[in-house]
Parts: sequence; C-alpha cells; structure tokens
Amino acid sequence: MAAEPFHLEWFGGPAEHHFRNARPLGDFDWESLDRTRYPEGLLTTAREVWTGIAISEYVAIAAFAEVVSALTAARAPLDLIGMTSDFLADEVRHVELASRVVMQLGGAVPKPLDTARLTPLLAPGLTPFERANELALRVGCVAEVFASATAVPIMRETTHGLVKAVYQSILRDEARHSRFGSLYFEWAGDRLSPAERERLGAVTLDALTPYAGLWRSNIGLDDQPSEWGSFDAHELGWIEPSRYVPLAKSVVSEQIVPPLRAIGIAIDAAELEVLLTS
Ligand SMILES: [Fe+2]
Ligand SMILES: [Fe+2]
Repeated sequence: MAAEPFHLEWFGGPAEHHFRNARPLGDFDWESLDRTRYPEGLLTTAREVWTGIAISEYVAIAAFAEVVSALTAARAPLDLIGMTSDFLADEVRHVELASRVVMQLGGAVPKPLDTARLTPLLAPGLTPFERANELALRVGCVAEVFASATAVPIMRETTHGLVKAVYQSILRDEARHSRFGSLYFEWAGDRLSPAERERLGAVTLDALTPYAGLWRSNIGLDDQPSEWGSFDAHELGWIEPSRYVPLAKSVVSEQIVPPLRAIGIAIDAAELEVLLTS
C-alpha cells in the first residue's frame, strides 16, 4: 500500500459546533511551538512521531466503534456500552490534538494507512459473546494499555510546554480507556469456558506480535543524533531508543500479561519469551 501524508478533512458549521460542545479542544498555546528553532533532523523525527500518534488515535476511533457494536450484539451492560461509546469522541479529539502538533511542526510525513483495514479481522463463525471478548481483549487489554503505559514516561520527560500539555490532555482520557478491558472481563469473566480462555490466550499472542516490530525497529538507533545540535530527545516528545525498547517490553510483560493471567487467560510462556527476545 502506498505511503502518503496523513490528511484529514474538517467540515465546520453544525458538525463542528456539535463536536465542540461534546469535546472542547482545550486551551493550548499552539504558536509557542516554533519550528524555526529546531534543526531539520530533529523536526523530521518529531513529525514522524506525531504523525504516528495521530494515525494511532485515528485507528482507535474505528477500534472503539467496533467494540461498541460488539458489546451491543453481546448484550453487555448498558452503562458499559455507554462508557465505551463516550471514548469515541475522546479519540476524535486526540486525533485533532496530535494533528495540530504535526501542523505546527511542518506537516505530516508519508506513512501507509489502509483505512479499509483499521480494525482486527476476526475469525468467521464467532458468537456475539466471543466477538465481544476478542475485541475487548485486543482493544481494551492490549492496544489501549500499551499505548498509554508507554506514553506516560515519555510525557513526564517532555520538555516543551505545549507538547507536554497535549500529551497530558490525551493521557488523562487514556487512563480511563485503559480500565475498559478489566471492567469488561469483570462482567464476562464467569462465563468464559476453558476453551474460550484458551482461545483468548492465543488471541493475546497474536495481538502482541506486531509490537515486536516496534522494538526491532528501535534497536541500533542513535539516542542523540549529531544533527540535533543541543536539543535532546525529550524536547518534542520522543524518548531514546535505548530506553524505549526495555520500556515497551516491560509494559507487555508487567502490565498487559499479568492481569490477563489473573483472570485465567493463559498466555504460552515460551511463545511470549520468543516474542520479547525477538
Ligand atoms: Fe487516544
Ligand atoms: Fe484511547
């Protein structure tokens, strides 16, 4: 699939009015992010990072829309459906915030994004309950936890005020989103058969597999490229690859896997080890 710059449309008028009522953007000093201060190499990295964040947030809109639909089909508790549908508007606002950072930095970099395949492809023939289990696991227990747990330490060290404020605003919502998976399984847990728990263990490994690409692609990268001058990784919301790799792996092994094992979703230890050392 062709890589092209990520772009969005904005409609204005009643659509903007209603969305603004649902989610005010917040007070941010966009002009304080002055790209002319930075060397080209640092700007390119920051544009890549924030284009990636905008795309992840865009994918999260589709992911939660799919979760809401699956919860409804599975007759999940109405308040759980309501809570999850509220996250959709959060994710739309996160796309907007990340995209505004990208615009201040000079625009998006080309990245492949197939909008026909934004959500996980589930096996045919699953019952509504099994579909809800799998989506809650993939989206709630894996993707949302990984995204927020890896971003919190990066946010804490970001030194530019505007970039840090955007991270903080997004992560305040993500703290709520990260609780969805465990709440779902609090409801669904007693009804999971041994076979379904085993299936969900395999689903977890499948959902974690793409993350190995993140640590593989960071190994060997320079923590402080010389063309960045006196600026370091933390200025615009990045973290040194030598710290990101252990951080990402520890989020998987300490924050994603143990809560799943605690509710009886068994993840094959040998396969997990292969994933973490690949
Ligand atoms: Fe988000
Ligand atoms: Fe989220």
